[in-house]
Amino acid sequence: MADLSGMRQPYHRTDSTFDVIDLASKDPMKQFEAWFEDTCKDKLVQEPNAMALATASRSGIPSVRMVLCKGFSTEGFTFYTNYESRKGRELDANPNCSLMFYWEPLKRSIQVQGVAERVSEEKSRSYFASRPLESQIGALVSHQGTVLQSRQVLDTKLKELKELYSGEDVSIPKPDYWGGYLVRPNEMEFWQGQTNRLHDRLKFRKLKDGETFNDELMVKAEGDWIIERLSS
Ligand SMILES: Cc1cc2nc3c(=O)[nH]c(=O)nc-3n(C[C@H](O)[C@H](O)[C@H](O)COP(=O)(O)O)c2cc1C
Repeated sequence: MADLSGMRQPYHRTDSTFDVIDLASKDPMKQFEAWFEDTCKDKLVQEPNAMALATASRSGIPSVRMVLCKGFSTEGFTFYTNYESRKGRELDANPNCSLMFYWEPLKRSIQVQGVAERVSEEKSRSYFASRPLESQIGALVSHQGTVLQSRQVLDTKLKELKELYSGEDVSIPKPDYWGGYLVRPNEMEFWQGQTNRLHDRLKFRKLKDGETFNDELMVKAEGDWIIERLSS
């Protein structure tokens, strides 16, 4: 076994400092946008739109994996996948889920708690059509999550489909089992690492039924959002 207790990176960078959070907006999606834009400018982050997606079965068994966020708006975050995969089946049975963006060079993370719903077939079709041919074929080759006898099964299917769709103006129809989800957030926590390890955490959430606004611990934000500061 490896003892990793001494593995510790200093939280500082020569070209920037990690100030406490100065909110760009009291709307959590606009705040997300501001941090996302900062991240896109940072050459050290190669996939700013990569996020962990945690789901749970109806009986509460959790699972997590990475996906790519393909859009965000006032409504929430969109990603695409195979509806028959483990995540797809879990989201259809239990739409409560969580997303996590972690932008290590900026020492920032954003945790989202929300509820997922399928996007319209039309939106999924239009996004599928915009994908490179290789990615479209990939969605046909692989029935995500099914158990395979060997790697060769995938390679053979890929070869067959590449031959089938080798013409100039080929158009591959989107398979029914493939499409997008929109995650509508009901909580969003912005985390900024600090050199002194007293990290900064601000959480946007909505008041629960029957809960009253506490002006000592809460700040009113846009719409029905409130902000709380959490200890690190
Ligand atoms: C950086 C990264 C991005 C990924 N993006 C996606 C994606 O957008 N959609 C997807 O279905 N799988 C994506 N994957 C693969 C998933 O992590 C996962 O292996 C796959 O979706 C099967 O997950 P499941 O069996 O838990 O449903 C990505 C993997 C990585 C490492």
